[in-house]
Amino acid sequence: MTTHGRPIRIGLIGAGGIGSVHLQVLGRLRGECEIVAVTDTALSLAEQRAKEYGVPVVPADPEKLIAMPEVDAVIIAVPNKYHKAYTLAALQSGKHVLVEKPMGLNAEDAKEIVRAERKYGKVVMVGHQMRWDWVPLRIREQIERGELGHIYSAKTGWFRRQGIPGWGSWFTRKSEAGGGPLIDIGVHMIDLAFFLLGEPKPVAVSGAVYAEFGPRKRGLGGWGVPDWNGYFDVEDFATALIRMEDGRTLTLEVSWAAHVDGDSLPFVHLFGTEGGAVIRGETGKFLTERDGKPVDIPLDPPADDEGSRVRLARHFLECIRTGRKPATSVETGLRSNLIIEGIYESSRTGREVVLDWSI
Ligand SMILES: NC(=O)c1ccc[n+]([C@@H]2O[C@H](COP(=O)([O-])OP(=O)(O)OC[C@H]3O[C@@H](n4cnc5c(N)ncnc54)[C@H](O)[C@@H]3O)[C@@H](O)[C@H]2O)c1
Repeated sequence: MTTHGRPIRIGLIGAGGIGSVHLQVLGRLRGECEIVAVTDTALSLAEQRAKEYGVPVVPADPEKLIAMPEVDAVIIAVPNKYHKAYTLAALQSGKHVLVEKPMGLNAEDAKEIVRAERKYGKVVMVGHQMRWDWVPLRIREQIERGELGHIYSAKTGWFRRQGIPGWGSWFTRKSEAGGGPLIDIGVHMIDLAFFLLGEPKPVAVSGAVYAEFGPRKRGLGGWGVPDWNGYFDVEDFATALIRMEDGRTLTLEVSWAAHVDGDSLPFVHLFGTEGGAVIRGETGKFLTERDGKPVDIPLDPPADDEGSRVRLARHFLECIRTGRKPATSVETGLRSNLIIEGIYESSRTGREVVLDWSI
């Protein structure tokens, strides 16, 4: 459970919404890891969190945390704009990195991270917990047993009806977030769908994005703190078709705000020759036919589930201990950034975009 016989020592940059979630989750893995430092540009917030979670050191800035010899791994839980700089600095300082999603603000940032990971040879993992939920893990097992046959297409998305996070804050500024729901929640759905499809290589995308609610300060709600002196220059709705090298397709639809019927839960549909599967929020079912008639088989939750975020954290620690490549590797992070950037470009140009995989 340790590197060289001791718990893995973690420094956290960013004590906001998801930073606090990391503190809670890692607190459940005492013995395997310990959080030795936390910082944030809002230093008083970092101090407050340090007190709450018993973190001994609050360095004055992220550079000081990254330089600490007693830190083995850094978690980067700050606005998307800073993911690249802190990841690169941490790698240069010999640390492993868990960087929140999206890995890069854009594809070029993601490529720089891929190059740095290859150069420094440390673990870099992207924070996608949804593939660690019990439902996709169970469905993946069914796929591996051949129960769905050949999966030729999939559909994924997440329609929030009134869910624009922190209007005017970094969340709704292109220069700091990289985009709207596509890069915020769409990135999770892309990762989840590619996991279920067995990690195919996407080669082209076609899409369109719209901003019909945010500019009018409508459809607000959910995560984040509004900044009424700020602005909104991202999309609030996106739709896309992603083509794989092997001919399979994935459709993606996301919104932060839309007049849409339904339950606002993230979903995935898998279309296989022998069976289908659907995930809706934290539930799932397997779809097949018996005697020519459609049959739905709900998936039963495990009796004692430690949860996706704990499994994600365990996987990160295990990769550090063993040197194994994380499931959500830098290459998967680049894949998401390429797709997202391709959708923005396709929306701008009205054409399909071929993804540029050159590193
Ligand atoms: N995996 C998930 O489910 C999930 C959920 C929410 C957010 N996220 C991701 O986590 C990251 C942070 O999101 P959040 O919701 O916690 O945002 P947040 O605004 O709640 O928190 C961000 C924190 O970073 C601090 N900060 C800003 N710039 C900084 C800098 N340059 N150096 C150090 N600290 C800085 C802010 O003061 C704030 O406390 C984003 O990349 C977001 O996409 C992931």
